[in-house]
Amino acid sequence: MPDEHTPARQIVESEIRANGPITFARFMEIALYGVHGYYASSVSAGADYATSPQMHPAFGALIAGYLLNAWETLGEPGTFDVVELGAGDGGLAQDVQDAVARVRESNDRRAQFSEALRYHAFDIRPRGWVRDVGELRRLNPVVGCVISNELLDAFPAHVFTVRNRKVLECYVGFGDTGELAFVEGDASTNEIVDRVSEYTSILPEGYRGEVNLGIGEWASTVAGLLKSGYVLTIDYGHERNALYHPARYEGSLRCYREHVLGQNPFRDVGLQDMTVHVDFTAVDEVLDAVGFERKTELKSQRDFLFDLGIGEYLRRVREALVSRQHEMDVVLQNRELQSLNSLVDTRGLGNFRVAQHRRGAPEIDLAGLETAPVYGDPLSRPRHLSSIPYD
Ligand SMILES: C[S@@+](CC[C@H](N)C(=O)[O-])C[C@H]1O[C@@H](n2cnc3c(N)ncnc32)[C@H](O)[C@@H]1O
Repeated sequence: MPDEHTPARQIVESEIRANGPITFARFMEIALYGVHGYYASSVSAGADYATSPQMHPAFGALIAGYLLNAWETLGEPGTFDVVELGAGDGGLAQDVQDAVARVRESNDRRAQFSEALRYHAFDIRPRGWVRDVGELRRLNPVVGCVISNELLDAFPAHVFTVRNRKVLECYVGFGDTGELAFVEGDASTNEIVDRVSEYTSILPEGYRGEVNLGIGEWASTVAGLLKSGYVLTIDYGHERNALYHPARYEGSLRCYREHVLGQNPFRDVGLQDMTVHVDFTAVDEVLDAVGFERKTELKSQRDFLFDLGIGEYLRRVREALVSRQHEMDVVLQNRELQSLNSLVDTRGLGNFRVAQHRRGAPEIDLAGLETAPVYGDPLSRPRHLSSIPYD
């Protein structure tokens, strides 16, 4: 189907014809979450990018180790609820629960963790057994952890530019030849200007960036969900001074189709995924406003997973590969190691940021962490990418 005829694009165009240019956040909402949006199709959703839970079960097993530690730090409550937001196809939820089921078999007091854990997975476009976010209302505030992986970067964002040291918003309208194009105008809300005003004096003329205003609502949801406990937020992004930096002249908006990175959001509307790097300073601000405190350091995923014991996990994978070398060929063995390593590769997933916040709960100390019981059989399952058959 030619690009210009995508149904999502037609919705965008008719909205512009009726009301004039729309914000980029509105455009993203239609293109990703509208009736003909990218995430509306269970075929396309998730096929164009590879997230950590899709790469290897080590990610879920190590997160299970983190949750076990959180439960211990909270004094081992009889019920420990984990609420995952933006759970997609439920891969992380599955891997965490598989790992926790293995703790049940360990004959020490940590086996009680598997009795205490209740895992709730929600998504705005639920797939499989993941529940619709609309059902969050039914959940009473919990003691435990709210977790998300690559949720905030998928929120619709506003786009701005700097002209004569002033912040203008980039709306989506029609260009000279009638194609979709950015059209500049005054900001639709002062919140956009407030987020970036500290940096406008150092940003070059024509700089383009994004502001994610949806995280305020997310923080209110998190505050309503969590009576006491932890918020674990993993995503692409930076603190604000690194995000709004002259070196990032063209901003952080990225489009993905069939694993290929592009930068033109107006192509294949509704057929490509779009993401915007997270402003982790804003994440702190919105969570602080609802009573959460951040653990001092904003870690890279690489450092976080090493704190959680990925080094030991890697050793066990190597051992398992040696013991199964007659069953698995060399290519499969290499893929196993590659997908595990990709979780900590700083050119990709390893460079993600991990923010840890807490409210009414002591700080978690990962230094003395003992996660080995959750490793079990450490190799990937058919649903992980390393298990995709090769030719
Ligand atoms: C990039 S995917 C990540 C999926 C999964 N967390 C993973 O790591 O594989 C982003 C997910 O966030 C969901 N999402 C976006 N906005 C949401 C919202 N406001 N509430 C819940 N889920 C949302 C999307 O439907 C999508 O499944």
